Amino acid sequence: MRAQNKSVIVTGAGNGIGEGIAKRLAAEGAQVIVNDINEAGGQRVVAEITAAGGTAAFFKADVTHSAQVKALVDEAVRLYGRLDVMVNNAGWTHRNRPMLEVSEEEFDKVYAINMKSIYLSAIHAVPALRKVGGGSIINIASTAGLRPRPGLTWYNGSKGAVIITSKSMAAELGPDNIRVNCINPVFNPDTGLAAEFAGGPVDDARRAKFLATIPLGRFSTALDVANAALYLASDEASFINGVCIEVDGGRCV
Ligand SMILES: NC(=O)c1ccc[n+]([C@@H]2O[C@H](COP(=O)([O-])OP(=O)(O)OC[C@H]3O[C@@H](n4cnc5c(N)ncnc54)[C@H](O)[C@@H]3O)[C@@H](O)[C@H]2O)c1
Repeated sequence: MRAQNKSVIVTGAGNGIGEGIAKRLAAEGAQVIVNDINEAGGQRVVAEITAAGGTAAFFKADVTHSAQVKALVDEAVRLYGRLDVMVNNAGWTHRNRPMLEVSEEEFDKVYAINMKSIYLSAIHAVPALRKVGGGSIINIASTAGLRPRPGLTWYNGSKGAVIITSKSMAAELGPDNIRVNCINPVFNPDTGLAAEFAGGPVDDARRAKFLATIPLGRFSTALDVANAALYLASDEASFINGVCIEVDGGRCV
């Protein structure tokens, strides 16, 4: 078991990529807090993990609110006695469209969910990780943060910020034995954000356009990303700090 007895929080785990990460880590022995603002989704994921013999509990919290993130971390410590791994996965995007058409409200929401959440998670999770002698923070960024395409400009920028912030956190927290890494997934058509990224329903034409840019010839799955997260969470990655794993089939443009 590669994550045996590790106490893990996965934000935005009531659907999509976060759900995949929560399930994969639980299957490898982690004790997981499934966080989301969507209670029905989060409870479903917990029920599925538990039915498969894993350990998980749901905690509703909005990752953009400091008091709620503090309560989330406190819950992991209360339930499992400690925190070892913080996966900042919750994310959001404005719909794919010209940058000048994105409202200020949408811009603020993108940065609150994608970026401020990393700050709040650091404020509240780092003391808990320090208390147990270290741990692993995994931030879900995006290929968009490295190789941006038109239509998602403000989202792309927020993920670029996640990537460089993760590297800076890694440099600063390394002496505490807290490793900070990110994962850059490429487009996954089976998630809640897919139509927003695509700028409309993921029809055959949109699928083909995306696929043409992925040399391995398929989209990413939640499991692809979860496998990378499992590695970064595990002791196998004990000397891996400040990296960004691109789980993107080699997307070149
Ligand atoms: N799907 C893709 O193609 C893709 C590609 C690259 C990166 N990503 C990133 O992967 C991460 C997961 O996205 P997904 O595609 O699985 O999307 P999703 O919409 O399927 O899941 C995101 C989950 O986050 C939750 N959430 C939203 N705001 C929240 C908040 N304030 N507090 C707590 N939970 C909140 C949602 O309720 C949802 O359950 C995001 O950071 C996204 O930017 C996705």
